[in-house]
Amino acid sequence: MPNDPVPGLLSRATELLEAEFAGLPAFEAAADLDAMARVLETTARRLGDNYPYFHPLYAGQMLKPPHPVARAAYALAMTVNPNNHARDGGRASSEMEIEAVRGIAAMFGWSASSGSYLGHLTSSGTLANLEALWVAGMLAPGKRVVGSEQAHYTHKRISAVLKLEFTSVAADGRGRMDLNALEAELRRGDVGTVVVTLGTTAIGAVDALDEVLKLKARYGFRVHVDAAYGGYFRLIADDSGEGVLDDAARRAYRATVEADSLVIDPHKHGLQPYGCGCVLFRDAGVGRFYKHDSPYTYFTSKELHLGEISLECSRAGAAAVALWATQQLLPLTPDGEFARGLKSGRAAALELDRRVREDGRFVALAGGGPELDIVVCKVKAASAEPASDLAQSIFAACATRDLHLALVQLPQFWFEPAAGAGLVTCLRSVLMKPEHEAWLGRIWERLSAACEEVMGV
Ligand SMILES: Cc1ncc(COP(=O)(O)O)c(C=O)c1O
Repeated sequence: MPNDPVPGLLSRATELLEAEFAGLPAFEAAADLDAMARVLETTARRLGDNYPYFHPLYAGQMLKPPHPVARAAYALAMTVNPNNHARDGGRASSEMEIEAVRGIAAMFGWSASSGSYLGHLTSSGTLANLEALWVAGMLAPGKRVVGSEQAHYTHKRISAVLKLEFTSVAADGRGRMDLNALEAELRRGDVGTVVVTLGTTAIGAVDALDEVLKLKARYGFRVHVDAAYGGYFRLIADDSGEGVLDDAARRAYRATVEADSLVIDPHKHGLQPYGCGCVLFRDAGVGRFYKHDSPYTYFTSKELHLGEISLECSRAGAAAVALWATQQLLPLTPDGEFARGLKSGRAAALELDRRVREDGRFVALAGGGPELDIVVCKVKAASAEPASDLAQSIFAACATRDLHLALVQLPQFWFEPAAGAGLVTCLRSVLMKPEHEAWLGRIWERLSAACEEVMGV
């Protein structure tokens, strides 16, 4: 494990925080330190039963370690344990949430100068999408929600919870929503909302938001953007040079300013501990749907309490504190260190994809390289079944070399256009850590050795 700066950072900051409350009469909190130490020893051993998510050789699922400043700020906030439901429970942390969300909104071009918006943190991307589709359903009762078959599985389930009909439309060979299939649904005249994914879970595909907005002008519907995974790539969408996005993805990202609602997960690419999603609405007027009375709270301040515009009641103020601190250190600017980290992961993905394409043991996506920082490939074999078995075996052989990849089931025609729509299990690698670029050589060596062991070549 790398040297952890958090204990040192935390001890100084804790002294300062304690000084803020020094005027209170002292009291002793009951604590059996020996017993706590024993429990923590057991806890540490139990936690050893994990993949090493923090290490660059973990290149499997969407797992990016929180930044040390986020961990320190989160732990510091635990001294107070604020609740961002109402200012009664989280005064400073509510302000910090508003400021942090303002930074995210500005990244998408949403600011006071471009009109109003409403936004808040949630405990996950799923909850954030639930709020967005709940508002969408209120605005278009009885109308359908449509999204790509590659949209996150929770959209269908959320729609069922909200009693909204959800229709999946086909994805093309690059994993993007097929616009002809979408238009066929729109012609039926009963679509209230289209879910556009910027960065699909499986392969990081970027739906053509700009084109969907053209269809909106013709057919009239609400556009919800699920950028839970890919949202932060907006920062590099105006950029040129190495590691930038391709033209189609850039156009999609630039159109985010026109979305009706948008979800982004700081706990995915935003260097945050879990428990940090975010939903934004372009029209602040949708706040009316959240209106409710709470006889217990909202009495300490006439300012907006975030619980008044959120479906969840209690929410971790510490999550807002951690996000705020991270954005202070790493502002969401196109030329900043945070954006450089995104480019670095993307450069690693482009390099891995290049090596896969040159290597006769794999088949890469026929439609082109990764749109963000997720690489997938099929193992070459006579048919889908042996290809899937080989992927499973290579995945396991990598793990014995401390390289942790992931598996994903994808349509065969994405790799071989003449093949059918049947699924094949593929290798998948999410290269979202800035360190992945420097480690790519070592990742490749291990992958190659694992293939040699399994395939004999
Ligand atoms: C595109 C997309 N949307 C939504 C979600 C759900 O987010 P969460 O896991 O934070 O609930 C995910 C999770 O991977 C995702 O990739």
